[in-house]
Amino acid sequence: MRRSHASPLGALVASLLALAPSPGSAFYFPGVAPTSYKTGDTVPLFVNHLTPANSQSDPKLRSVFSFDYYHPPFHFCRPEGGPQYIRESLGSILFGDRIQTSPFELKMGQNESCKALCSTQTFAALDSKFVNSRIFQGYDLNWLIDGLPAAQLVKVGDDDPFYSPGFALGTVEGDQPRFNNHYDIFIDYHEAGPDSFRVVGVLLSPFSFRESKYNGEGQQATCGDQTAPLVLVENGNTEVTFTYGVYWRLSSTPFATRWDKYLHVYDAKIHWFSLVNSAVIVVFLIGMVSTILVRTLKKDIARYNRLDQLALDDFSANGTMEDGVQEDSGWKLVHGDVFRPPKNPLFLAVIVGNGAQLFMMAGLTIAFALLGFLSPSNRGALGTVIIIFYTLFGFIGGYVSSRLYKFFHGESWKLCFFYTPVALPALVFATFFLLNLFVWGRGASGAVPFTTMLVLVIIWFVISVPLSLAGSWFGFKQPVIESPVHTNQIPRQIPPSGGYLRPIPSMALAGVLPFGAIFVELYFIMNSIWFSKVYYMFGFLFICYGLMIMTSAAVTVLMIYFLLCAENYHWQWRSFCTAGASAFYVFASALLYWAKDVSFGSWTSGVLYLGYSALLSLLFFILTGTIGFFASWLFVLKIYKSIKVD
Ligand SMILES: *[C@@H]1O[C@H](CO)[C@@H](O)[C@H](O)[C@H]1NC(C)=O
Repeated sequence: MRRSHASPLGALVASLLALAPSPGSAFYFPGVAPTSYKTGDTVPLFVNHLTPANSQSDPKLRSVFSFDYYHPPFHFCRPEGGPQYIRESLGSILFGDRIQTSPFELKMGQNESCKALCSTQTFAALDSKFVNSRIFQGYDLNWLIDGLPAAQLVKVGDDDPFYSPGFALGTVEGDQPRFNNHYDIFIDYHEAGPDSFRVVGVLLSPFSFRESKYNGEGQQATCGDQTAPLVLVENGNTEVTFTYGVYWRLSSTPFATRWDKYLHVYDAKIHWFSLVNSAVIVVFLIGMVSTILVRTLKKDIARYNRLDQLALDDFSANGTMEDGVQEDSGWKLVHGDVFRPPKNPLFLAVIVGNGAQLFMMAGLTIAFALLGFLSPSNRGALGTVIIIFYTLFGFIGGYVSSRLYKFFHGESWKLCFFYTPVALPALVFATFFLLNLFVWGRGASGAVPFTTMLVLVIIWFVISVPLSLAGSWFGFKQPVIESPVHTNQIPRQIPPSGGYLRPIPSMALAGVLPFGAIFVELYFIMNSIWFSKVYYMFGFLFICYGLMIMTSAAVTVLMIYFLLCAENYHWQWRSFCTAGASAFYVFASALLYWAKDVSFGSWTSGVLYLGYSALLSLLFFILTGTIGFFASWLFVLKIYKSIKVD
């Protein structure tokens, strides 16, 4: 984010984004206060799971599973007494982190060139096969040293080189998989005071040395060299000695800005381009909607009210109603039906309630992230905050659904109270659980542990459900929202409408605009989800979220206005689905991403990918649908309030 912007717009948005303290800001977030080491102090190295990654030579995603570092076929050396799990936040576990101790001994300021990690390991043929296929799939190792990820130096185009977290399990030369068994660890450290040092950067160069030998006692070894790379043979045993070297480099980077070189904005131009693009769409849409609201509606209303007056005058003059009233057409005609409850009012109330809950959660999470509370140095904070907000906003969900249900003159109160906190979470959880079964089945470690699932269920049951019930009760006690016009006894005939007002075309047409506001950010989010990379471009995301809300609202209001003008008063579900239709584009883009950037070797990866994409699209459907529904609801209330009806 520290780049000079040529255009004034760029500068403006940049200064906006700069409001978000980058990790370089001068105060520390909880849990990431600096640790100082004296010369010779041990700096712990923790190991995290292995994740699929993309390299510049092979940018495709080949698997979605992650593996525990101590998964037996890898034969990675264990610390004495076995590895221990490091305590983590719920969000961190949900997002797949499995952090454990390791046998590395890093002493502050003391270089080592070749140390053995443990005695020689023997890879049987099956293990070698397993590891080789992970190398072909481009798996990365993820280590943490003093909270910093071990990274590789990457240079893209003319940008400054930056630290990209994770490093390769092995490399593929020709079609020969070479397994990395030597790690050169370069640690940048900063002198904070006399004999007080802090870790401010970690770079890793992995090597494949066939000739490395373990020298019996302790950690002594002789390391091979690159002329003889190590290849795990698949028809016999392979002996492997794991070794490492440590190099301490004094750095001028202070602790406070140590994350800066990790946070690289890929293709910043694309973000700017998409922002400007969506901003133009939004301005155009808002212009159109306000033209309609301010001019057309004003004219309509004036005309309707004048016509009423005329008709009344006529009536008193001639004693008959003149035909002038016949001119009355468009949205006013349906005033006796527009507040007729929709089909399945309970269902609509429940999902709008859930949508409101998601809406608040997403908005507040992004705002929180923008304020810098969720910086990547605070591992798992994002996941934790999402869960906390979702749980707390159960209250909003209950409140909204019960008020809306009352507005629809619903009768089945108990069902509304019950379904709001249960239906969607149960669906999401069931899908999540099912998809996890596949991961368990594969023996991969990315599966969320059963205890974590249990904790989620308990949080939901003990906090979220009661809050939602309380919200429902509170909403139930509120007076019903009055319709400004009366609803006729007998429903009006709806004239057939054609063209873009038919459900499918109207949804396809309207849904593309909110999607347009977010698709670039969506691409980056998908990338960071599937490649387990940190996503931190929350400044962009915040603006995109705002633009998406405005587009969804504006385009739905526009569509509903046309619908009402065509004397079709079924606006409730239509408004929800019109805005929600952008979720189909989201799903389609996931499929496109699959076609373009993904190449799975196993069908289980495909099932997981499709399952999670569908789940995300469903949540997005409910979120945008709710925005569309609320915008239309306000719109309809407002315009029918302003006309006189006898
Ligand atoms: C340790 O290695 C680094 C990198 O090669 C070097 O810059 C530094 O001077 C070495 N430190 C010592 C104490 O030898």
